[in-house]
Formats: sequence, structure tokens, C-alpha cells
Amino acid sequence: MDKKFYTTTPIYYVNDKPHIGHAYTTVLADVLSRFHRSAGDATFFLTGTDEHGQKVQKAAEKNNMDCKQHCDETVVRFKELWDVLGITNDRFIRTTDEYHKTVVQKVLQNLYDRDLIYRAEYTGWYCVGCERFFTEKDLVDGKCPDCGREVSEIVESNYFFRMSKYQDWLIEYIETHPDFILPKFRANETLGFLRRELEDLCISRPKSRLAWGIELPFDKDYVCYVWFDALLNYLSGVGYLQDDAEFAKWWPASCQLIGKDILTTHTVYWTTMLKAMDLPLPKTIFAHGWWLTGKTKMSKSLGNVVNPMDMIERCGVDAFRYYLMAEMSPGNDASFTEESFINRYNTDLANDLGNLASRVLKMALRNCNGTIPAPHEMLAEDNELLAAADKALEVMEKSLSTLALDSGISAVMDVVRLGNKYFEAAAPWTLAKTGNIERLETVVYTAAEAMRRVAVLLDPVMPNKMKELRDMLGMDPGLPATLEALHDKKNILSGSTVLDRGGLFMRIQVEDPAACQKPAKEKKAEKPANVVAPEELVEITDFAKIKLKTAKVLTAERVEGADKLLKLSIEVGSEKRPLVAGVAQYYTPEEMVGKTIVIVANLKPAVIRGVESAGMLLAAKSGKKLALVTVEGDIPSGANIG
Ligand code: MSP
Repeated sequence: MDKKFYTTTPIYYVNDKPHIGHAYTTVLADVLSRFHRSAGDATFFLTGTDEHGQKVQKAAEKNNMDCKQHCDETVVRFKELWDVLGITNDRFIRTTDEYHKTVVQKVLQNLYDRDLIYRAEYTGWYCVGCERFFTEKDLVDGKCPDCGREVSEIVESNYFFRMSKYQDWLIEYIETHPDFILPKFRANETLGFLRRELEDLCISRPKSRLAWGIELPFDKDYVCYVWFDALLNYLSGVGYLQDDAEFAKWWPASCQLIGKDILTTHTVYWTTMLKAMDLPLPKTIFAHGWWLTGKTKMSKSLGNVVNPMDMIERCGVDAFRYYLMAEMSPGNDASFTEESFINRYNTDLANDLGNLASRVLKMALRNCNGTIPAPHEMLAEDNELLAAADKALEVMEKSLSTLALDSGISAVMDVVRLGNKYFEAAAPWTLAKTGNIERLETVVYTAAEAMRRVAVLLDPVMPNKMKELRDMLGMDPGLPATLEALHDKKNILSGSTVLDRGGLFMRIQVEDPAACQKPAKEKKAEKPANVVAPEELVEITDFAKIKLKTAKVLTAERVEGADKLLKLSIEVGSEKRPLVAGVAQYYTPEEMVGKTIVIVANLKPAVIRGVESAGMLLAAKSGKKLALVTVEGDIPSGANIG
């Protein structure tokens, strides 16, 4: 890998609320940056906001605000979301920052002095409704391509960048640099665009029409076209024309991430601008696909835009980051549905990863004095599991250059699934019973070592949870959780003390199936209450699996945003637990406190509406009535019921 890594995201229009598309690119850049830091590369990660132009001016006017003041208020939404998502950008650039404006003006002046920017009469077609100019070619049946209304021909004097002169050079550059535009089909799309004659680019707007922009240094009646200004952030953000050493350290960028809709502005405008400035081109411009809601494009008017904060509240930051990275294949569109989200969470994180972690810890706690033992003779199956982890490291490292992070993640999850199978086949609980301690220790060691590698490989994707997992395994915090360190095959876990922190990922219980967008089922005819169908009868051994216990309610409060739920803290003998119960429409929190209730004590823990729940209380329901199941007399909490 390169020893230097400079990555960028597009700078987001400050007017929009951040949505899943913005979150995706920024998390992707963050994961790549974390991986490269972990590989020991000098890394710089730039993101920010695009703050000039007509949309901002109009929004500020509507709110009776000064444009800059309006930007200062709206930029916070992005900064806050990046904080919550744990984004580790090295700089957040705003195009209204003074240093950026100075760089844009210097570039404009330089190109003007070298006759690469010139003034000319511009004839365009203006749509009053959209307040936009179109060329003759853009029009659809002679009308506005966006809104379909009449357009009028306008002649305006403007400044132009001599983009057309670079057409042949750009075609050749793309053809001879296979890694320049990725995925490859996007390079072909750009080449397709370049088959038409390339025109010069209008880079000015008269102030009489639009005042909110960077003033042209050679004509105070004009401001700079918002894209010309915005693209230069990738240079001004790393010291261009301000700090030569800093700039030389980072430019050219290693990987510029963009969405597929802004391909031409980056692969044609941006690259020709760099050529005109005599600067090298970025190594790779990578265009990802779009997030769709189901099969539909996300749009404000359809009201189907996915808000990242909702998902984070529901299942935590790490699970959301994991979903974004695992679900989208590079270059293709991905479909967001709540159902796919919950499925992936429950399957990959709760069932596979969470389950293996909990099995390893429990075995170490119960049978190895709470430590990871040293291995004895390693059998073929032990080596097979560790070899799968080596393979996952290889796939993950490769995926960093192709950006196929989903395949890297999938290789790591294969290790987890193999680990669960390995544990079942080795059955350490039987080894404990039969006293085969040496084999038991080798199995616990091997599974723990596989977990440690998983915790390092997924660290850039889920930094909080993987740190938690390493802590649970007792991994010394002083040891580097880096890909580099994984190449060193030293046994560093044996002897470490494990920590039982409870489940790593609680299952999400779908409280309301409609929330998962499943087709509504036909309602079954109701059975009389006293009839139990023969096929519903259970064996006594089935019933014995359910551990019912008494519990005392210590505290109770409502769950924000869920009218049916109460969050309880309960005492079960000497243990305290959280429990979420759907009784808020029948009992107030005050009525619950102090009650002795009956709970299913061995139900797998779950997260309900973002709140952990360990157990389920019993209640009787008839029509609109609900009553808690309690016990008669003075019975302490933690008593068995059967
Ligand atoms: N300000 C310009 C970029 C200037 S870069 C010098 C801009 N901003 S944007 O806020 O409209 O879009 C930013 C990014 O979000 C783009 O890469 C765009 O592709 C991406 N997305 C917008 N909607 C998206 C989805 N539904 N899914 C994935 N990404 C999408 O364009």
C-alpha cells in the first residue's frame, strides 16, 4: 500500500439536511482512513460544506437572514452528525472560510493572466422558474429540461474557462490510466460524454443575478460559478498556495469519493482545471451508486428520505456504520429497507458475532478461571479457523484498493460463522464435563484468537464495539489493533483476563411488524379462548426450558417516542436487570414501582427501541384489559416459579 493516503468526500450543500447518502460517503471515507492509519500510512481525510450559490441565497432571503449567518446555522447539522457517527476527518472545510476564498481568487487570477479564462458574450436559455441557464442542447422540446416551462433566450457577458482545449488530452489520460476513474464503467461513461465536442465552461455569474459567491478578482461585478469554487476545496483544504510543504505532502489525492450524479463535474471539469493549473490528477476518483428507498429514488417530495439519526437511535452508531459498509457493493445502487436493516443486524451482529463472543467468554469464565488459556496440540480444525482469519486479512487488505469493502467484511463474517460451527463441533462444554481440559483450553484459545483478529479487522467499521470486544477478551489496551500487527503471528492473548460485559449486540425485536414493511397478513379467525389445538400441546420438557422467576420493580419510566413501552429496572434475587415492557397504556410508571412481577428470566436479551431488555414480564390480556401476573404473599424476588 502507498505510505500516504489523502481522501476526500464531496462537500455537501449546506442547505440540505444530511441523509443516508451523505452519511454513506462520509463513513466510507472514515473507514478507509481508519484502515490506512491502521496500516501505518500518513493519512489525511477532508470533508466539508458547499456554501455559495443560488439555493443558499434564496433560503437565506426566505428566512430574512444574512447568507453567512444562514450557513453558520445550518452547517451545524453536518458537524453534529459527523460527531455522532465518530467521523475522524482531519479538517472540515467550508467554502465561506477566508483561506478558501483567497485560494479561489488566486487561482482565478492566475488562469485569467494566462489567458485560460476569457470574457465573452454568452447566449443561453433562461428558465425564470428555475432561475437557471441552459444551452440549446439541454432543452427538451425547446422547453426547460427540469420543469418543462417556457425558456427565454438571454445574452449575457460572462467569463469562460478554456476547458475545450483539454479534450484530447483528457481522453488519452483516461484511456492510459485504468485506476483513474473507478468503477471502470464510470470511466466509459466519461469517455462517452467526451465523444461530444467539449465546450468551454462558464465560470462566472453577474452579481445582478446572484450576489452570494466569491468575487472575481479581475471584475467586481461578477461572482465565481459555485462548482468552480467548490472543487477547489480539495486543494485549499491541504495547504495549496498557503503552505507548500503541507500541500506537497498530500497532493495528489489518493482517492476522491463521489456519488454517480456528480461524475462529470469531477472527471471533466475538475481534471481539466487541475491540468490548467499544472497540477497532477488524483490517483482515483471513485463514484459510488445511490441509496434507494426500496426500489425508489429518495426524494424530499416523496417523503422517503432516510434520516441517519433515526437509525442510530434505534440500533446504535456501530451497527449503522456496519450496515452501510456491508450492504452496498462498490459502484452499484443499494436498497434501504427497515427489514433488510433489521435482518442484517440480527443475523450478522446479534446471532453470529455476538453469539460467538458470548460463547467464548462464558467458556473462559466457567472453565478457564476467567482467562484465555494457552493452546496445546493444534488440530487441523484449529488451524483451519485461524487460516480463515488470515485469508480475511488478505481479502480486507485487497478490498482497500478496489474499495470492495463489502467483500472484506463478508470474509470476516465467514470467520465468525466458521467460528460458531467450530465451537459447536468441538463442544467445549462436553470436554469440560469429561475432563478433557487440554483440548478444552486449545478450543477456547483458538476461538478467542479468531475473535481477536475479527475485532481488529472490523475495528475501522465498528470502532466502539470492537474496542468493547477486545476489552472483553482482555486484550492489553497498549497493544496496537492494527492490520500491520495482525501480520505478526505472536500469541498475545493467552493469560489475559476476560471481562463479562453482557451481550455485545442485543437482538432487535420487531415490536410492530408493519414497521418492517412486510405485507399485511390476512387476519386469522379467532379461536375460542379455552381451546388448545392438539398440535399446540407441548411436552413437560419443553416447558422446563422456560425459567420463570419473581422480580421486584425498582424503577420505571416511559420510553421516549414509544407510547406502549415502559423501561423498568428490576431486581431478580441479587441481580439487577433492565426490562422493557409493553404495559404503558395500562400502568403508569409510578404504579409499577414496588410491584413483584413474574418474568421469563432466561429469554435472550434484546434491544427494543434502542433500550436493552433482559427478560419479559408476564401479563394476562383480555380485549382491552391487561393485568400483571403477580404472586400471592410475601415472596422475595428471584424465586423460581414452576
Ligand atoms: N455540493 C455538491 C458537491 C460539490 S463537491 C466539490 C453536491 N452536494 S450534495 O449535497 O447535493 O450531494 C453530495 C453527495 O451526496 C453527492 O456525492 C451525491 O451523489 C450524494 N448523494 C445524494 N443523494 C444520494 C443517495 N440517495 N445515495 C447516495 N448518495 C447520494 O452535489
